Amino acid sequence: MPPSRPSSSSLSSSLASLALFTSPIVGGALKESGAYWVCEKTGTKFPLLDGVPWLTPDPQRAIADWQNRAEALIAHFADQIAIMKDDLSRCPSELGRQRIKKLRTLTIQHIEFLKDVLAPLKLKGKLNAPQAAAFGYRLPANQGLLGYFQNLIRDWSLETDENDAQWAALREAMNGLEQLGRLAVLGSGGSRLAYDLHQSGVSSETIALDINPVLFLTTRRILSGQAVSLVEFTVAPKNLEATAATRLCQVPEPVKPGFMQAFADCYHLPFTDESVDTVLTPWLIDILPQPLEVLVGEINRVLKPGGQWLNTGSLNFQLSDLTKCYSLEETREVIEGLGFRMEALVQSEIPYLRSELSAHGRLETVTTFRAKKVASRPTRPHPDSRSEWLRDTSMPIPASQVVQASRVIFDVQAYVLAQVDGSRSIDAIALLVSQRYGLAEDNAREAVANFLARNADDGRV
Ligand SMILES: C[S@@+](CC[C@H](N)C(=O)[O-])C[C@H]1O[C@@H](n2cnc3c(N)ncnc32)[C@H](O)[C@@H]1O
Repeated sequence: MPPSRPSSSSLSSSLASLALFTSPIVGGALKESGAYWVCEKTGTKFPLLDGVPWLTPDPQRAIADWQNRAEALIAHFADQIAIMKDDLSRCPSELGRQRIKKLRTLTIQHIEFLKDVLAPLKLKGKLNAPQAAAFGYRLPANQGLLGYFQNLIRDWSLETDENDAQWAALREAMNGLEQLGRLAVLGSGGSRLAYDLHQSGVSSETIALDINPVLFLTTRRILSGQAVSLVEFTVAPKNLEATAATRLCQVPEPVKPGFMQAFADCYHLPFTDESVDTVLTPWLIDILPQPLEVLVGEINRVLKPGGQWLNTGSLNFQLSDLTKCYSLEETREVIEGLGFRMEALVQSEIPYLRSELSAHGRLETVTTFRAKKVASRPTRPHPDSRSEWLRDTSMPIPASQVVQASRVIFDVQAYVLAQVDGSRSIDAIALLVSQRYGLAEDNAREAVANFLARNADDGRV
């Protein structure tokens, strides 16, 4: 039987919870105004999505970005469904048709769920798959919106000991720490760990923060007591039946009062300085795009003096700057150099995203620590290290050498593709290219063949 709905006080974005937050960046107080929270200093409007406040800097821009991603994703699935129809008609084996049919039916169910859960984003259906790809909203779809979809299923449905193992690792690092006070969970995702902590009574209030609307709007439904049917696309199916399956996701028991969700960027937390007792970062610190120092600075800013930072997850930094891909020892050094004292650090092996349907399963060594804030560090000037004209869309873009070079690349590529008219061969296009760009014909043929072969491999011609 699905659990009963929690009382309205449990998950509401009420005026009481409003008092916790400030607008990110300028730190202005917020007031409720219809479907928005409004910054009293700047007048910036922060919309509520299905009751969850969107508290990132420049919310309009952030939401437009997620709308584009969502439209790219939905267009991608629509293409997949059409391709699967074709596969079905070509497949010579009855068993093969059964497999593809199952996959297609569940893909359709999945896309319907995504459209429904993302309805608060007010998708406009304007960006098609090629446009999305051209603007860099990368496919396949496991990047971005659905990157951690399986975590939702792990959190709320699978008969698994994973959540218990995670909880046990954190307990060990907490080492008898019984009261966490006001707890902010950054990159909370499916939020099972935030929920387990909250239900255990160690936090007086729990604020789960994330930027991903699929994860967080689905989490919202589950936490508010709905039983939600999610599709699991199995990583390495053990057999035909295991190709994909639906999973019923729901909370074990209604959420206790004092839990709330907010969309927020962990680099720009919507809290005033020194207002939070405990910060938890579950499986977050090594997947972020900026050097660890930036996040540590922001955590230090919002923690009260003596506040605790709890972390659990992998330490597998994958930044392009090798000097920032820290080992365990360097991670500790960075954290201790930025106003924290490491109070406990344990490494334990836990199962990760295992499913009885899949032949693959991971065992991860997670690093769980508790660090106490012992010194306040000045906040960094602007944690967004991108160029100013990228942050401020009204500024002129410098016409750099790189832009000139990119223009040539896109011009050549667009020219070659424009010559594909259903009648021309590679030889014919190479001739046009050699005339236009002054290349020797043999080189032009090789270049055109190479370019089209790569595009064919990527399914673009
Ligand atoms: C590896 S997942 C972990 C999710 C969850 N904590 C768990 O343990 O299952 C990382 C999470 O961080 C979120 N995230 C990524 N960048 C973020 C950012 N800048 N601010 C807030 N959340 C972010 C993602 O949306 C995702 O939910």
